[in-house]
Amino acid sequence: MKVVKSKKALKEEIHRAKKEGKIIGFVPTMGYLHEGHLSLIREAKKECDYIVVSIFVNPKQFNSEEDLKKYPRDFERDQGLLRQENIDLLFLPEIEEIYPEEPKIYLDIPSLTNKLCGIYRPGHFPGVLLVVLKLFHLVEPHKAYFGKKDYQQYLIIKQMVKDLDLDIDVIGCSLIREESGIALSSRNARLSPNGYSDALLIYRALNIAKKEWQKGERNPENLKEIIKDIVETGALNRVEYVEIVDPNTLESVKEAKEGDLIAVAVYTENVRLIDNIELRGES
Ligand code: PAJ
Repeated sequence: MKVVKSKKALKEEIHRAKKEGKIIGFVPTMGYLHEGHLSLIREAKKECDYIVVSIFVNPKQFNSEEDLKKYPRDFERDQGLLRQENIDLLFLPEIEEIYPEEPKIYLDIPSLTNKLCGIYRPGHFPGVLLVVLKLFHLVEPHKAYFGKKDYQQYLIIKQMVKDLDLDIDVIGCSLIREESGIALSSRNARLSPNGYSDALLIYRALNIAKKEWQKGERNPENLKEIIKDIVETGALNRVEYVEIVDPNTLESVKEAKEGDLIAVAVYTENVRLIDNIELRGES
């Protein structure tokens, strides 16, 4: 595994790989890697023969200095994990390398960012779009892998690639959970043991709502109420939103149907956690 910190060195490595005819698979991350991230790398390895991972805690997508400062980091451990996965290239830039000066462009896809997380995190998705577009230009991958844990992010990036005619295949990968059911997230590291046990209620609630849907409940308001009630039995939990949306438009639905997505954001202690589940006939 080669580790590069500059854009110049990154481009040199990529050009070499492309000359050799390699299919470049790219997994952008903010580090503090877990099985969710590693699952994207493993998907990429199935379809590509040169794997690039980036680790960059992107300041432009954080809403507060405090959240940015508290974002967990362990670049040494991350590098160990990536070596085990046998990736080809790690791009680990400093902030100045990506933002040598304040960027003046502002990217947005309002019809997708004015919903769900976008309502509560103004500027977050424009920050994600900016860094991902920059990384796409630097890495020029054939395929890029995103987790459906961040379903809205995945959809927004897919739309950007379509709208801007980027020649990149954006691949959405399954949400990975711990055995306990909790969605893997770098932010879980900030939970206390009590916070962790309250956070378990999130997936439990999503599952119970899904079961109610399978039994015939179609009213989104009732399903949302079930989730909110269960999650808020945890004293450390505060539901930010729970929505049932069309997976293509993220519009709230009037009747919950097969394939719709239940998406939630919950503050557990001071940690913002997101999760989602697809409504499907089978359990
Ligand atoms: P980060 O939160 O580090 O996530 C990197 C990638 O891993 C994203 O595509 C995310 O959806 C995926 N991922 C995280 N947890 C997952 C889980 N439990 N199951 C499946 N996939 C999971 O998302 C970002 O970083 C940033 O916004 C980024 C795209 C790198 C831009 O800065």
